[in-house]
Amino acid sequence: MKFNISDYISSRKEIVDKKLLDFLPESDNELTNLHESMRYSVLAGGKRLRPILCIAAAEVVGGTIEKALPVACAIEMIHTYSLIHDDLPSMDDDLFRRGKPTNHSVYGEALAILAGDALLTDAFYLIVEEGIANGLTPSLIVDVIGDISKAAGSKGMVRGQAIDLYLEGSEDVSLESSEEVHTLKTGALIEASVITGGKIGGGNDDELSRLRLYSRSLGLAFQIIDDVLDVAGGGEIGKSSGVDAKKKKVTYPGLIGVKKAKEIAWKLTEEAVLALRDFDDNSRPLREIALYLRGRRY
Ligand code: IPE
Ligand code: IPE
Ligand code: MG
Ligand code: MG
Ligand code: MG
Repeated sequence: MKFNISDYISSRKEIVDKKLLDFLPESDNELTNLHESMRYSVLAGGKRLRPILCIAAAEVVGGTIEKALPVACAIEMIHTYSLIHDDLPSMDDDLFRRGKPTNHSVYGEALAILAGDALLTDAFYLIVEEGIANGLTPSLIVDVIGDISKAAGSKGMVRGQAIDLYLEGSEDVSLESSEEVHTLKTGALIEASVITGGKIGGGNDDELSRLRLYSRSLGLAFQIIDDVLDVAGGGEIGKSSGVDAKKKKVTYPGLIGVKKAKEIAWKLTEEAVLALRDFDDNSRPLREIALYLRGRRY
């Protein structure tokens, strides 16, 4: 059958969306809107890039969607928490996300902070609870939790977010510092998505190191394109645009212009694709996801 990347993405997205819908509690016994606000942001939309990568990485080494699904969804919950907090007035102060008003604009700042805290914490509960049920061994679960918590924590994503805010407004930031911020705030979780998928799928050390190379190039390319879309994107991006320049954020287009930033993202995508060369034809989804993402409009 002919492979179509849009069909691949939408079929995996549907499975992920269904699992997230099932897992997230519907109400909080009416006392507070905590669960409603969590569902609001998770189910608002989103490309589901990270869970799809986790599943595709499991599949490339011979694993199944079912086994990867709890971890894939947990990573999407962690990503969504990071977006809720990223949009807070004390951080990027944004009003739109995933085509809707941001969590704090609807539920207030306190509940937005708590919704983020809960999504982060519940993500690990999901891995433990459903990982066992889906046939992951305890040692694999511990390994995967180690990878994800390291990637999301103070030496990964949170560190990147802290440096991003620290450098806001700075004049003489180097491309190297920018690369570090991007690699930490965005690349780390993308790498963890791919690597944990590869581990769940039973990948050997050699396969995992190729997947790591793929995910590192892809993660950096992804954030560079995000920066480009902030400058040059249309209405499809579903979030405010032009905000990075206003806040003097450290971005590739800000440092070297849109054209050169795109060239770097193009080159990184080629590198990501090249890292897959020794896999068989099952690597097609990962390869085409990389190509699809560099041409994305949202
Ligand atoms: C936005 O991520 C924040 C970045 C790390 C660039 P996505 O572009 O994956 O956002 P959603 O999940 O599709 O909303
Ligand atoms: C956000 O980067 C990265 C994380 C949330 C970890 P941005 O601040 O550029 O993301 P957007 O543009 O608001 O989605
Ligand atoms: Mg930010
Ligand atoms: Mg932001
Ligand atoms: Mg951005």
